[in-house]
Amino acid sequence: MGPFVPRFTRQARALHWSLAAPVLLLLLTGLTNFAPELKAVRAGDVRLFAWLHVVLGFATLAAARAVYLPLLLQRALRDDLRELMDVRRRDYLWLQHIGLRATGAPSRPPSVGKFNAGQKLNTLATMLLLAVLLATGAVLGINYFTKRIFDVGLVETLFTWHTALSLLAVPLILGHLYLALLHPSTRESLRGVTRGAVRRDWAERHHDAWAPDAPAPAAGAPPPERTPPGSRKDSPKRPH
Ligand code: HEM
Repeated sequence: MGPFVPRFTRQARALHWSLAAPVLLLLLTGLTNFAPELKAVRAGDVRLFAWLHVVLGFATLAAARAVYLPLLLQRALRDDLRELMDVRRRDYLWLQHIGLRATGAPSRPPSVGKFNAGQKLNTLATMLLLAVLLATGAVLGINYFTKRIFDVGLVETLFTWHTALSLLAVPLILGHLYLALLHPSTRESLRGVTRGAVRRDWAERHHDAWAPDAPAPAAGAPPPERTPPGSRKDSPKRPH
């Protein structure tokens, strides 16, 4: 058994980064609207960052059909998506476990598959936010070039939604970056989306129901401090 287990295919990683890069750039160029000095930067006749934002927005919408859709049709990726949408009893137990740990109460983590409930909720929230941001952005983007198509009231309403949802995306993206880059017990996951594999011991601790060839339960493991029904009984307590 090697020290690493494969986690994400090349196509899954390509989808992650081909979405992450433009979304981050869209957020950054959009947020310049809140910084008067940046908002005022001009290139010829246009406000530079607003123009970049709109052009990048249309490029991302075009990529949805040309890049994201073909990638999503790959079998391995569909398996990941099915797994992400598969809500099970252990997901409720995982959320209960996180809640107990947050209040300082002792709790053992339940068994976890390829994705825990936090990853599932994060994916769902990100996808919903992204879909609405791209849809509202499309209308705002067309309106940026011509004011003749959409009603002013509609544009104002969609702009309010676009702003509110992009502000909601900020803590979601910052939380995602913190867990992927900084948090000691989760940052190993970054290797999965860069190299495609993660350390076997990490996979067995964090995704025991998924990690291939997980070892047999350790003999004489200490009794659980508090085990909700259906919780994992065979792994050591881990920090969160
Ligand atoms: C992940 C996707 C996106 C994010 C996070 C995002 C974020 C933002 C933010 C933060 C603003 C500034 C809001 C304000 O000033 O109150 C903004 C404005 C705007 N967005 Fe987006 N946006 C996204 C996608 C799009 C797309 C796909 C388009 C168009 C194709 C678009 C078109 C616009 C337009 C036209 C504005 C107004 C720019 C101006 O005139 O200053 N956005 N966006």
